[in-house]
Amino acid sequence: MADKRSDSPPSLLITGCSSGIGHAAAHTMQSRGWRVLATARQRADVQRLKQEGLEAFQIDLADSRSIKAGVAELMTRTGGKLDALFNNAAYGQPGAVEDLSREVLRQQLEVNLLGTHELTARVLPMMRAQGHGRIVQNSSVLGFAALPYRGAYICSKFALEGLTDTLRLELDGSGIHVSLIQPGPINSRFRDNAYRAFKDNIDAVNSAHASTYQKVQARLAGADGGKTPFALDPDAVVNRLIHALEHPRPKARYAVTLPTRLFSLLRRILTSRGMDAVLLRSTRAERR
Ligand SMILES: NC(=O)c1ccc[n+]([C@@H]2O[C@H](COP(=O)([O-])OP(=O)(O)OC[C@H]3O[C@@H](n4cnc5c(N)ncnc54)[C@H](OP(=O)(O)O)[C@@H]3O)[C@@H](O)[C@H]2O)c1
Repeated sequence: MADKRSDSPPSLLITGCSSGIGHAAAHTMQSRGWRVLATARQRADVQRLKQEGLEAFQIDLADSRSIKAGVAELMTRTGGKLDALFNNAAYGQPGAVEDLSREVLRQQLEVNLLGTHELTARVLPMMRAQGHGRIVQNSSVLGFAALPYRGAYICSKFALEGLTDTLRLELDGSGIHVSLIQPGPINSRFRDNAYRAFKDNIDAVNSAHASTYQKVQARLAGADGGKTPFALDPDAVVNRLIHALEHPRPKARYAVTLPTRLFSLLRRILTSRGMDAVLLRSTRAERR
């Protein structure tokens, strides 16, 4: 196992373990011999994770006090050491860009970008003191390709990519490696959570996009049978996480799913106009 410096198992903190990718990652990495510190936003989920045999405590990325308390808890449990951090937690706020209030956009950035950043900045001193560490960011195909009606989430993931690329350069030679995973569609609770955020925060009736929102809502509600084309199970992401955490030479980026690999290629060879045409075409059915 890369970067292991003692006989005790290497430690890994994961955010957003209540469901989906974080939940799968926590169990898989624990079964591979890591000491997993599984965190979740809600107390009830922390209890459930403990019952599943995981070492768990609370971190809510929307709340600085919760992040601070979570890092204090981590330090107490590990004696101030952390070998790896998987910044997994995030949610998607759907809605047309012009329908996003400042507060709703702020909330999206608070969780997906600023909370993730704060947690990372708080654990980096531990990794620097050790002289090694791994940081893995769960980004998205929407971290480099834009699709309509997902602007808040896309903004958060584009920003996460920029911050992460910069951090990787700044940590060059430190022994701390930083990787981005870019999943396309993954079967998880992501869509249910996005639908909730849509209903809570978007005025779908009094919008210039009202008719399109009927389609958007139908998709989020699972009118397509909940089956997203090319979707993979969370294990597809966890497999790349294993490489990022355990390989001696982790990659800067891991593309997961066919849509990610395809959009990544097209973005390199097409003009912006050509790329827009592809992105609009790929979402035509959900808009008309
Ligand atoms: N599913 C996809 O198609 C897909 C594609 C590309 C990238 N991703 C990325 O994969 C990651 C995991 O998503 P998923 O697919 O596994 O979706 P998920 O099942 O909805 O899991 C998201 C996790 O993030 C947590 N979370 C949300 N807000 C939080 C907060 N304020 N503080 C701490 N945790 C919070 C959720 O906790 P609660 O249960 O408490 O809400 C949940 O544990 C995300 O970064 C997402 O952007 C997903």
